[in-house]
Amino acid sequence: MSSQTVYLNGRLLPLREATVSILDRGFMLGDGVYELIPVYHRRPFRLNEHLRRLQHSLDGIRLMNPMRDSEWQQIITQMIALHESDNQSIYVQVTRGAAPRDHAFPKTVIPTVLVMSNPLISPDPVQVENGICAVSSPDLRWGRCDLKTIGLLPNVLAKQKAVEAGCIECVLFRDGVLTEGAASNIFVVKNDVILAPVKDHRMLPGITYDLVVELALGNRMPLEVRDIAEDEVRNADELWLTSSSREVQAIVELDGLPVGSGAPGLLYRRMYTLYQDFKQTLTGQS
Ligand SMILES: Cc1ncc(COP(=O)(O)O)c(C=O)c1O
Repeated sequence: MSSQTVYLNGRLLPLREATVSILDRGFMLGDGVYELIPVYHRRPFRLNEHLRRLQHSLDGIRLMNPMRDSEWQQIITQMIALHESDNQSIYVQVTRGAAPRDHAFPKTVIPTVLVMSNPLISPDPVQVENGICAVSSPDLRWGRCDLKTIGLLPNVLAKQKAVEAGCIECVLFRDGVLTEGAASNIFVVKNDVILAPVKDHRMLPGITYDLVVELALGNRMPLEVRDIAEDEVRNADELWLTSSSREVQAIVELDGLPVGSGAPGLLYRRMYTLYQDFKQTLTGQS
């Protein structure tokens, strides 16, 4: 969008004029965190949850939150109003700011704060209906995957592996246990029970993951939160991925082999409907 306006360090600017120093620690060291908030019908979806996770990520990298929640809300509301799509994807990034390159924190920190909006690309209806394929890979990331940091190189490489195989996602395993996807959380269904990985340092606590767990429990769908062995993933009846942009999608092929029947399963269809219904009640529109 050529007219795209972004928020950078207290100013609203056209995208092409929004620049940061090459000494920014986000650019130099990947020293920063981010959030991505979907907006439906001009209303941010689960904003409080996203702001809570932003705080968790900032605490995890020992960077003070540069704004109160009410200020974040104000900027995000302004961003939404400045863009024409009803459904948007709000990107928020905070880095430790510009300083002479040194691993240790600079003495004075003026964080770099960026907020921008892009049109939200809805999940492809064909993929929603037919499912998607995934590959797998060892999880080579660091030990704080619960923080949404901008240092995404292992995720980038995992996603590229999927793309080069003609797939959508890469499912990650650490020490023989499912962690998550390169850019999503993963659920397993076996014998009509939904299995969800434990929300700890090994995975990002997905906002969509939480909603799917909430919907399952609220609708009496059997659910267990526990470590899930790689074998269980490979022998699953159903596999789902969840993320703010993809919502809930069925993985029907993993590493070239069918998952269960090779088609989206019944529990997936139920959860997909529950998710869409929830979105509708919250936004008041279909
Ligand atoms: C590594 C990773 N896990 C999980 C998720 C899903 O999180 P959410 O549901 O909050 O979008 C994402 C989203 O981008 C992600 O990058």
